[in-house]
Parts: sequence; C-alpha cells; structure tokens
Amino acid sequence: IQVSPFDLVVFGGTGDLAARKLLPAMYQRDRAGQLPEAGRIICVSRRAQTREAYHGFVRDALSSHVKSSELEATVLERFVARVHYCAADATGDGGWAELAELLNAAREHVRSFYFAVSPDLFAPLSEQIGRFGLVTPESRVVLEKPLGKNGEGARAVNEAVGKVFNESQIFRIDHYLGKETVQNLMALRFANRMFEPLWNSTHIDHIQITVAEDLGVGDRGGYYDTSGALRDMVQNHILQLLCLTAMEPPDAFEADAVRDEKLKILKALKRIDERNAEAATVRGQYRKGSVGGQPTKGYLEDLGAEDSDTETFVAIRAEIANWRWAGVPFYLRTGKRLAARTSEIVVNFRPISHSIFDHTAGRISQNRLIIRLQPDEGMTLEVMIKDPGPGGMRLRRIPLDMSFVETFGVSNPDAYERLLMDVIRGNQTLFMRLDEVTAAWNWIDPILNAWKGNAQRVHHYPAGAWGPSASIALIERDGRTWTEDM
Ligand code: BG6
Repeated sequence: IQVSPFDLVVFGGTGDLAARKLLPAMYQRDRAGQLPEAGRIICVSRRAQTREAYHGFVRDALSSHVKSSELEATVLERFVARVHYCAADATGDGGWAELAELLNAAREHVRSFYFAVSPDLFAPLSEQIGRFGLVTPESRVVLEKPLGKNGEGARAVNEAVGKVFNESQIFRIDHYLGKETVQNLMALRFANRMFEPLWNSTHIDHIQITVAEDLGVGDRGGYYDTSGALRDMVQNHILQLLCLTAMEPPDAFEADAVRDEKLKILKALKRIDERNAEAATVRGQYRKGSVGGQPTKGYLEDLGAEDSDTETFVAIRAEIANWRWAGVPFYLRTGKRLAARTSEIVVNFRPISHSIFDHTAGRISQNRLIIRLQPDEGMTLEVMIKDPGPGGMRLRRIPLDMSFVETFGVSNPDAYERLLMDVIRGNQTLFMRLDEVTAAWNWIDPILNAWKGNAQRVHHYPAGAWGPSASIALIERDGRTWTEDM
C-alpha cells in the first residue's frame, strides 16, 4: 500500500547514515511501489552544491549500498528525480528561506524531518525549524541515537526538541525495532499458545542476549571513543531486545500499549551501581588479533591513539525484579571485533523435573529457544529426541529449525525501510517514547558512574575472541556458560 504524499527532509544529507541506510531504504521502497509520485526527499547539509552534484552522491550511495541485481534503471531515474538538495546550516540562517520555499510548495504533504546528525545539533535544528515556521500539523521529527551521553544530556535534547514538536510528533528511532526477527519475537510470544505459559521463572532458567560484531570501529573512532559499547549498544538496542523478550503481553498491538509494557521492564531492572558493578559487569577492549583468518589491528591502532579506556565490549548480568522473572538472570553482551557477526536471544529452559531415562540415556539437555536476528534470521527450538536405531533409548538434543530465507525465499528488508514508512504513516509502535529513553538512562547512568567511581578498567581481548576471559568468568560463577561454549 502506498504511503501518503510526503516530504522527507534529511539533515545530514551527505553523511554516512544517509548514504548507507536512508537513501538505499527509500530506493527499495520506491522499487516496491510504496512511494507515491508526489513523494520528495529533501536532503540538507552545510555544503553548497547543486542538485545535480548531489544526485551524483545519491547514485554513488546506491551503487555502493544496494545489490547490483536490485538497481533497476527506471526505478533509479524515478528515485533520483525525487531527491532535492538544500544547503543550510543548523546554527545560522543561510539556506533556511530556500528550504521553507521548497517545503511550502507542498504544504499538504506529510512532512518528516530526519535528524541524521550529531545530537549537539538537535536543539539548534529544532529551533530553526520552529523559527522558520516549518512545522505543519502533519509534521514529525525523527531522532537518531545517541540521544545524549547520559540521562541529563537526553533530557536537555528532549526539552529542546519538545519546544517545537509535541510527543506524538517525535519518533526516536532504534533501528533494532525495525528488524524483522525482532518484530517476530512479538508474533512468536503473543500469537502462539505454547510459549507464553512457559515464559516465566518456573520454566526458564536464564536468558542470553548477544549482539556480536566482527567489525571494528572503522572510521567512527571519533564518535565511538566518547561513547563505548554500553552507550552505543546496550542503552538502546540491547535494552529494547530485553524489553520485548521480558514484557507482559500488551492488551493490543498499539503504540502506547506496547510502550507501557516495555517501560515497566526498564523500571523493574535491578540497579547496578558502585556496590555490585564489579560482579555484574565486564568491560573489554580489543587488541590486535585475527577475525575470520584475517589479521586485524587493535582498538588503539584503529583509533590512532596512545591510550583509551573506552570499552568495545560489555557483558552484564541483569535481573528483573518482578513476579515473572524473579531469580532469572539475563546475561547481556555485545562487542566489536568478536569471533563472528551474530545476534541472538537464547532462552534456556529449566531441566525437566524428573527423568525416567537416567539409567539408559545419560544426561538430558535443557530445551532452548534461539531467536536469531542476524545473520541467517530465524528461530530454532531445541528438543530432546531418541536417536534412531535399535541401540537402546539414547537421547539427543536436535534443532527444529526455521530460517526466513529458506521459508520465504527472500531476505528480509532492511530495518530502515519499515521504520521510514512507519514515520510517514505516523505509527509510533516501533519507536521509543520519552519515558522509555529516560528509564533506560536511569539504569545505565549508575553503571557508568560505578565504572568511574570504582575505576573499573577494561580487560583486553584479542580481536576474533568472544570477549575477555572475565566475561566467561561472569557467567561461570553462576554455573552457566555462554551459548557458543555449550
Ligand atoms: C549502531 C551502532 O546503532 O548499530 C553501531 O552505533 C553498530 O556501532 C550498529 O555497529 C549495529 O547495527 P546492525 O544493524 O549492523 O546490527
């Protein structure tokens, strides 16, 4: 179904996100026939250049970030013709009148402002948008992470944006929520009879959430070094995954109902601070090593710095203090330059209460449900079966496997495709509400403070490992192991 006529204004039009994600996502939606003829994409950045010159940038971005088999000449021409360019400066008045004129030529369009720029510019950009009277009733603003460097910073950003846009117009994006498998988690839990009755501390032993990347920080070192893995990945993506895994069933699949339930989880997270941070968290930083057989540099060399205590890996033992989850640890971990790019949620069920097979079959393994976000998105339910043959009652754990690509024959659309369409449609279900962001920071801030207060240093790990050995110790202290070691 086509979306309404729209203007998508991308601030940061010559940036990395526009080139890698936003332009390719809009191109794909155009190719799928979802963009109406009147839909325009207006890219803004400080650099003065002609529209034609910017079209060169768009073509380059698409040829680098869209598969060549998906680049169709007619779609490409149609897409490029939608793209306008405007040079304007967030902190000055230059260019704003031209932008206003361009926008006001189509006042009835749904107007979406996408802030794909550093968060320091969110406040000045909002101010300018307000001052030039660019907000129509059908306007929205999309805020990219990071929303501040801590709770205080996030509040300041939200306050500034809130002076110009109201909460129903603010779309705080977390692209993990646009991933197909993440949405599937809700289908799995709430559209099937068989999981929900088991989804609690009576039947679940513990849950592991891993977002592992094989890449290093690349040329984003400048940003990354002021952020670190806790802010870059845990505060947003991992906590969102945790919420969707742990939340109570919302009464409807509707923005506020879903967000109310996520918020309750964030508020129920047990506090980690100076008293327990050493035991509950591990910080790591990669050194040189090898990933997939290729020698790779260490973080400091990637950064070009002598010294840095920024974590490129973090593992946390989290707990949710509520009736459903009391006593069930959630082991969270994420890192750069790990052994492989895998993101998954692994639900480990408790052992059966009594085994009738002990004298014949040996140990019975626990059931596991693995929800794979990437690569090879899908789900695996591991169950015990009898080994075939007359050899006696020998039991084995085997996977019941579902892969999206195999089942549906197509790979999933990029998260940004879904989320950008949701922005134009005005659907906030997969976006974060202010109180969620605040609650997430309320849990993260004490951890950051504890690391500082206790001078909790990074442990080094060679690139290509699964993090520092302290991370293995964190889970082994509880008599458990990380998924890849099971
Ligand atoms: C971003 C982080 O939000 O997510 C990056 O800033 C990270 O550091 C990226 O690499 C991971 O996203 P994905 O979709 O590739 O898993």
